Amino acid sequence: MIKKGIILAGGMGTRMSPLTKAVNKQLLPIYDKPLIYYPLSILMLAKIKNILIIVNKGQLEQYKKLLPNGDRLGIKINYLEQDRPRGLPDAFILGKNFIKNDKVAMILGDNFFYGQSLSKMLLDCVKIKDGAKVVLHKVVNPEKFGIATIQGKKILSLKEKPKKTKSNLAITGLYFFDNKVSQYAKLLKPSKRNELEIVDLLNKYRKKNKLSAELIGRGGAWLDTGSIEDFYKTSNFVSAVENQQGFKIACLEEISLNNKWITKKEVVKSIKFYGNCEYSYYLKKVIS
Ligand code: DAU
Repeated sequence: MIKKGIILAGGMGTRMSPLTKAVNKQLLPIYDKPLIYYPLSILMLAKIKNILIIVNKGQLEQYKKLLPNGDRLGIKINYLEQDRPRGLPDAFILGKNFIKNDKVAMILGDNFFYGQSLSKMLLDCVKIKDGAKVVLHKVVNPEKFGIATIQGKKILSLKEKPKKTKSNLAITGLYFFDNKVSQYAKLLKPSKRNELEIVDLLNKYRKKNKLSAELIGRGGAWLDTGSIEDFYKTSNFVSAVENQQGFKIACLEEISLNNKWITKKEVVKSIKFYGNCEYSYYLKKVIS
């Protein structure tokens, strides 16, 4: 069972400047809560309580104001700074002392997932014994993502942002790895764009026949919030679902309560922490 998770929430956010000049992208709002709540909720739905958040150098204090050490949520949050965006696999080099000899999940700080059987899929994924697992989703613009070609659950090839490809299966920013991941990440060489590439790391597993795939079907949504336009699209999606159903997506306290990691007493603490706002009214409804 995977019990540790990393959220990679650094990056320069250049595509969203000037919004990201003073504030980290993952702290900007997706409708009614900061973006970081969504990937964090995914790890919590996978019953992962021990979490490392990797942030940009100089932005740690911003995060600690919002999500101090996880106590309020019944989880443990550790932080690390990345001094420059060296690529996604850098998370496993930086996070070596956090991972120790355990398996680990990683989610990119700007990835949004939603769907009915999502929790079940996550609970299956954390069961991996060895090797690595990626989560795939169909897209109409494969040139913007890492792309996989598959046969059943077997991955035949992986390519980062291919100019031409016959596949439309994007590799989402959610990955599950065995305890060899830091060791493999250390062997990687920077690509032409001077970054360590996640597909190179995944290829190490694929070549050993140790890489499997999970597919999110039509009932599930995956959105990468890489640009300003994506932020608005994702916000509209959350607003439509929440206002239609009356449930919140990625309400961290509600997930913790359901997981029995906290009691109503901690939710009351959260209500005090947030103050008089719509999110607090929702929390009051949750515990009433
Ligand atoms: O979202 C899924 C895609 O994410 C995958 O399909 C691609 O295979 C994968 O490479 C990645 O592509 P992006 O172009 O979206 O990656 P980006 O550089 O935007 O980084 C994603 C997030 O990770 C973003 O929130 C910033 C953070 N990040 C990125 C790098 C390279 C870091 O914190 N540190 C880094 O060194």
